[in-house]
Amino acid sequence: MTHQIKNLAEYQEAYRRSIEDPSAFWKEQAETFHWFKPFTKVLHWDFDKPEVRWFEDGQLNISYNCLDRHISSIGDQTAILWEPNDVTKPAKSYSYKHLLAEVCQCANALKSRGIKKGDRVILYMPMVPELAIAVLACARIGAIHSVVFAGFSAQALCDRVDDAQASMIICSDVNHRGNKLIPVKEVVDNAMDLGCNSVDTVLVYQNGDTSVNWSDDVDVWWHELVSIQAKECSPEPMNAEDMLFILYTSGSTGKPKGVVHTCGGYMVYTCYSFKNVFQYQPGDIYWCTADIGWITGHSYIVYGPLLAGATTLMFEGVPTYPDAGRFWDICEKHQVNQFYTAPTAIRALMAKGNEWPAKYDLSSIKVLGSVGEPINEEAWHWYDTHIGKGKAPIVDTWWQTETGGILITPLPGITDTKPTYASYPMPGIEAVLVDSDGNELHDNNVEGLLCIKHPWPSIIRTTYGDHERCRNVYFSAFKGKYFTGDGARRDEDGRIRVIGRVDDVINVSGHRMGTAEVENAINEHPKVIESAVVGYPHDIKGQGIYAYVITAGMNLDDAFRQEILATVVREIGPIAKPDKIQFVEGLPKTRSGKIMRRILRKIAAKDAENLGDISTLLNPEVVQSIKEGALV
Ligand code: WT7
Repeated sequence: MTHQIKNLAEYQEAYRRSIEDPSAFWKEQAETFHWFKPFTKVLHWDFDKPEVRWFEDGQLNISYNCLDRHISSIGDQTAILWEPNDVTKPAKSYSYKHLLAEVCQCANALKSRGIKKGDRVILYMPMVPELAIAVLACARIGAIHSVVFAGFSAQALCDRVDDAQASMIICSDVNHRGNKLIPVKEVVDNAMDLGCNSVDTVLVYQNGDTSVNWSDDVDVWWHELVSIQAKECSPEPMNAEDMLFILYTSGSTGKPKGVVHTCGGYMVYTCYSFKNVFQYQPGDIYWCTADIGWITGHSYIVYGPLLAGATTLMFEGVPTYPDAGRFWDICEKHQVNQFYTAPTAIRALMAKGNEWPAKYDLSSIKVLGSVGEPINEEAWHWYDTHIGKGKAPIVDTWWQTETGGILITPLPGITDTKPTYASYPMPGIEAVLVDSDGNELHDNNVEGLLCIKHPWPSIIRTTYGDHERCRNVYFSAFKGKYFTGDGARRDEDGRIRVIGRVDDVINVSGHRMGTAEVENAINEHPKVIESAVVGYPHDIKGQGIYAYVITAGMNLDDAFRQEILATVVREIGPIAKPDKIQFVEGLPKTRSGKIMRRILRKIAAKDAENLGDISTLLNPEVVQSIKEGALV
């Protein structure tokens, strides 16, 4: 097991050692896992290319480390505790032994349909245990999983299937979310009609009792195929740098990119960070409310907790169903010890009133976590007072899909906390602030661009099928550094506060979205000539989506707005729907034809009095009319 830091002196010592000799530090952590073939090389790296290889001549299997390795010691302990959407249904628990058997059966089912090492499998599933089982089954046989959040549209799903050239989709018939029933299989059918030519099997987990369209050529029921399989499946030995998964995320250009993580480094870092950030103790019940469709669910619902031998709670539903007490009800019912959620959920529940958490006994909670976006002071204090009762330290964890694991965070009970500050880098993380010319800012009390100077084990290896994009986006801005895309401030004591993106990426309810991606979707409406999308401050979502749209020959009314929204839902999904749509006659452009988003951001943020110099614009006259029509 990776090392667990117990006090401040140990953190300082671990940090010092990890920076002085990163290879020795991570070698020691990596050696605590099971390797089929031990590694002799620890690290090779060159950020210019970029090339990063950890433990490269070692062989392992991450599902073996999540499951088999624990059987002799904690085989009967609960690995996954599942709470269904429907309160009248019982919770389910899977011991490590039981989970291993289910994973093996699923792995054998994949093999029986021809899936082998290196093949890509898309998972488009609700938050049911079978999703975690399918993830681990892929890992067991060396298939590369790519989980697509089940709120994405058929078009978005199809784009990802095609980019990954996946041979299989695993989905459910329906999803239950609150009182909604979502027709997942139908979305997959539509995606198959749009493309997905690489797919020869759609494996369908039955999650409801409605009938679905069926095509015998490709569709297979999970319960018919998986249950007849043997309960043993030997794990495929994987090279440490073999791909483990692809996870699509938004960037500043239109097309989502497939972030690639590999087996060895990801395993070491997610386990190490999980144990330390949540200070997990044997017997604890840990709950992360994220969806496995995002990196948080990969690293801190499935892999990190299971590698550490923890009990990880998985929740199918939503925070407000059947009422705004659901999260707290689950915390009381299962005596949750570590609770990890997003600021947007905290703000939404805060708005429902203090009486909701007050009804429940939350005394089991020892650690509270926050992730996905900056947490504002008010939400931080509410979380601290009404959920943690002033006794549970809040870990405001900063990281990204690309970082694989948490990089900057307080350690609960070990380092101090300060509202809105992610605070201190984890051991192994050399976080620096630079100015726009790339000069490192060494003083405290400064603001700059957040970069990391040395690789950590779970750093992004490539963007699938487009290595140049990876180099360009993360490693070309500042030589020899990984650039995060975030701006940050360091306070007088060296704590870091991440302010937000400095590129054209926005963060809506903790969901990452490219403004160009939303623009492309809006532009799909035949009557839209051009659009520009920016983020603006939103009380609950953190950022809302503000779209400026130029159109031809339409009534500029709400019916047309609805058509645009429907287009976005079709192209991406409901999470990308603009909150505000303003029809404009022109967009402010530079002489080279680039949209001046700075101006549009200020207008959307009700800061139009302060636009700065607009005289260099190609069309300064449009600014006045945009200001007058602003929806603020
Ligand atoms: C972006 C990454 C990390 C898993 C979920 C999001 C923002 C994330 C924090 C935080 C301030 C944060 C950053 C980052 N972000 N956590 N604690 N404080 N900002 O992963 O979708 O890859 O988004 O989320 O802007 O770059 P993601």
